[in-house]
Amino acid sequence: MKKTRFIGHVFFLLTTVFLIAGLYSVRVSARKAMPKTVKIKAKMGTVTFNHAAHLKRHIKCITCHHMMKKNPNKMACRSCHGVKGSKAPKPMTAFHTTCKGCHKKRGGPTKCNGCHKK
Ligand code: HEC
Ligand code: HEC
Ligand code: HEC
Ligand code: HEC
Repeated sequence: MKKTRFIGHVFFLLTTVFLIAGLYSVRVSARKAMPKTVKIKAKMGTVTFNHAAHLKRHIKCITCHHMMKKNPNKMACRSCHGVKGSKAPKPMTAFHTTCKGCHKKRGGPTKCNGCHKK
């Protein structure tokens, strides 16, 4: 009786350790692959997004990558937005809502040529 309980505890402990290690490695791999800047091409003019500068402003990953908990391997917005058959709104709507939405509140560029550079 006592012995099976002990084994149960050891098993629980090991599962917990592996689970934490697993979650940690997902976070680390996402960080490793995180590009410093992203150039988003658009007919209106290329938008240069600076990850590092935005992270210095204490913005959390999930504020933009709103699906990262369920889909840690799909960080690119375009892996859903703009994909045929997806329920995700088109890229322009997604980007304008996320980017301009915050800029209106916190003071980033909201004028077209503040982001779109020819
Ligand atoms: C202010 C918004 C914002 C924040 C905050 C942010 N990101 Fe991003 N991230 C983006 C945008 C925009 C892209 C480009 C997406 C695209 O090309 O579709 C991107 C791209 C990425 C990519 C590359 C995806 C690919 O496959 O090309 C990774 C990885 C990533 N971000 C990780 C992170 C991590 C980790 C954090 C937090 C430490 C973070 N991001 C915080 C907006 C953000
Ligand atoms: C794994 C798929 C997936 C990824 C990756 C993803 N999205 Fe979405 N997004 C969706 C879906 C599905 C919806 C619509 C349903 C909902 O609101 O949850 C949505 C909705 C949105 C909305 C709400 C639009 C509105 O009209 O209110 C915004 C804004 C948005 N996404 C921005 C982004 C940005 C920016 C990125 C990248 C940093 C991103 N999404 C990455 C799937 C995704
Ligand atoms: C949660 C808030 C938030 C989100 C989301 C956000 N930004 Fe910003 N952004 C800021 C703030 C704050 C500034 C700095 C304003 C200042 O210093 O005057 C800024 C500045 C900028 C600048 C000016 C250059 C720089 O980095 O200082 C650009 C370009 C920019 N953002 C693009 C984007 C794009 C593109 C997106 C969407 C993919 C985005 N931002 C999403 C808060 C945000
Ligand atoms: C905060 C940054 C930001 C501001 C401000 C902004 N945009 Fe955008 N816009 C983007 C991003 C990011 C995309 C996504 C590009 C893509 O993948 O389609 C985009 C996409 C677009 C697109 C569709 C893609 C294409 O090929 O052109 C149009 C049209 C557009 N924007 C027009 C405008 C106009 C007009 C304004 C001013 C009223 C404006 N944008 C202001 C960031 C911005």
